[in-house]
Amino acid sequence: MPPIIHQAISQCSPSLAIMKYWGKAHTANNTPATPSIAVTLKSLMTETRVFVLDGIDAQDMVVLGGVLQTTERYASFFAALRSLCGPSKVFWAESANNFPTAAGLASSSSGFAALVHGACAALGIIKDSKAITEAMSQVARVGSASAARSLYGGFTLLDRQAYHATELHPANHWPELRVIVVRIHDGPKEISSRKAMEQTRITSPFYQAWVDDALQLVPQAQEALANKNLPRLGELARKSYLRMFSTMFAADPPIIYWQAQSLTVMKLCTTLRQLGIEAWETMDAGPQVKIFCLAQQTNAILQALATQLPDCPCLVDEVGDGPCVTTVPRLLASVHPVLANAAKTYGVVLG
Ligand code: PMV
Repeated sequence: MPPIIHQAISQCSPSLAIMKYWGKAHTANNTPATPSIAVTLKSLMTETRVFVLDGIDAQDMVVLGGVLQTTERYASFFAALRSLCGPSKVFWAESANNFPTAAGLASSSSGFAALVHGACAALGIIKDSKAITEAMSQVARVGSASAARSLYGGFTLLDRQAYHATELHPANHWPELRVIVVRIHDGPKEISSRKAMEQTRITSPFYQAWVDDALQLVPQAQEALANKNLPRLGELARKSYLRMFSTMFAADPPIIYWQAQSLTVMKLCTTLRQLGIEAWETMDAGPQVKIFCLAQQTNAILQALATQLPDCPCLVDEVGDGPCVTTVPRLLASVHPVLANAAKTYGVVLG
């Protein structure tokens, strides 16, 4: 029997943590030790074309930014995806980001979310159902815990030890919120977040304090978010990222993602706040800085950034609605030669 092929293209945006996840409760099943609150962005985007093949004995494949990835990093994720989509399924995917990959801009959150979303869309198992979204979020978590949040739009919570994320508020909860992404350095990070958080958990004397503290801060942040209170939320977000990094600095060997310009942006935000401009910075596993602010103060912040860091490109993003399926790709042209050649080898025709 000829193999059956389903395909779909999914577009998905990164989940930017307001309150951070750092450290695993269970390493093997990739559940988080800290609860996290995040916002799903709108303009930063991963586009993923997924072919789901049935009736063929082949390896899963992922081509990211034109490069075939090693399957090791994806093995547990694809096993989880097969438990959702069917044990005989094989997945071939190609993915592109409209922003730098693995540079601290949460590309793994949108990447794994787009993979599971695209596969489910290809098989027609995406309904507007809470249960399906939770199941997809659960599979995405196996790839990258932050990806569990990217399956939802608006504002999300991934609770401590949770298997899937939940939506706290839809995107229209806070349409005035903006995120300025300051690109400090586009190169890939020196150490993956997966490895770095294990190193922190195992060696940092501050790790348990970080986890305990996060449990105190996150409910307060949830309330500030519900009230759209930016000064309060910003203050909590700042504590969250600075305490997360403090645990990393104390790891052995220490983990340092910051660059000199990252610190310049942090200090600039402090100065802006003293002038009455609500600019609240955050950082993830990379040197980039993201600033939470309100639409009406965005230009003032951009001007200050342009004066102090004229060489760092800035992008203004807002709250997004979550993944969608498209028939009009924006980043992926024709099927990548790696996948096209594999199709020839197996005698299959990719739509
Ligand atoms: O899910 P991962 O392995 O990409 O780790 C995400 C870690 C942070 O971005 C630093 C925090 C977060 O909650 O997204």
